[in-house]
Amino acid sequence: MMLRPNVIHLHFGLKKPVRILQLTDVHLSLADERDGEDMVAHAAARRNTFFKEAGYPERDPVGYLEEAMKYAEDFDCTVITGDVLDFMTHANCDTAKKLLAGRDYMFCAGNHEFCPKVGVPDSFTRKEQKIDEIQSCFRGNMVFESRIVGGVNVIAIDNSYYTWTKEQLEMLKAEVSRGLPCILFCHSPLTCAHLDHNPPHKDLHASDEVVAITRKVTDYIIREPLIRAVFSGHYHNNGTEVLGDKTGYILGGLFKGIVGEIIID
Ligand SMILES: [Fe+2]
Ligand SMILES: [Fe+2]
Repeated sequence: MMLRPNVIHLHFGLKKPVRILQLTDVHLSLADERDGEDMVAHAAARRNTFFKEAGYPERDPVGYLEEAMKYAEDFDCTVITGDVLDFMTHANCDTAKKLLAGRDYMFCAGNHEFCPKVGVPDSFTRKEQKIDEIQSCFRGNMVFESRIVGGVNVIAIDNSYYTWTKEQLEMLKAEVSRGLPCILFCHSPLTCAHLDHNPPHKDLHASDEVVAITRKVTDYIIREPLIRAVFSGHYHNNGTEVLGDKTGYILGGLFKGIVGEIIID
């Protein structure tokens, strides 16, 4: 196997252990004649960037995603935490659809899912316009989704552009009220400097209202005892963050072959 598992054990006192696979930051960088010559060249440059960043790995992102989805068959649940696409092209969307077809997984988007070309400024308006198109490449509901897996409430929630919404807070509270231990999956780590937009994001000009609700949701996640751990990506390297009394686990990129195995007993 070419994958490099990062294994995390959590103890919730379950009767039977639950095994969850997390995948993140695949960064598919493909383009073809439908996307135009400019994007074909951009895609080649981006593939080269990730190949170097990953230290000249055995497989390309397509190969790793293929292998990871096969590996996922041995798990109770798979959660993909965004940046599957490096940018929006026909070739990337088609490849994601093909590799994920017939597979069961939960998905929340990353900042790159809404990127037309790397270097183009991030935009809330574009995200709004493109969200259905991007959702059509993936199953489920990428804004908020939950499922109970062996007595654990697994929640995937969007914070791709470093914001949360009050609707998400309501949905989160409704899930917590079910009384089961919860684990949360999202793209951006909760201590990511961009998440409360202070200092302001260079492209995204979040309103005071959006910043306030984002802080409120982050605070709720950190303080709510039934939310036991948070799993994110975005940084491309494995790491952890301190979230009050709990730990945030940050998973490295699948373009490096890294997968996250979460074993809960
Ligand atoms: Fe990424
Ligand atoms: Fe990201």
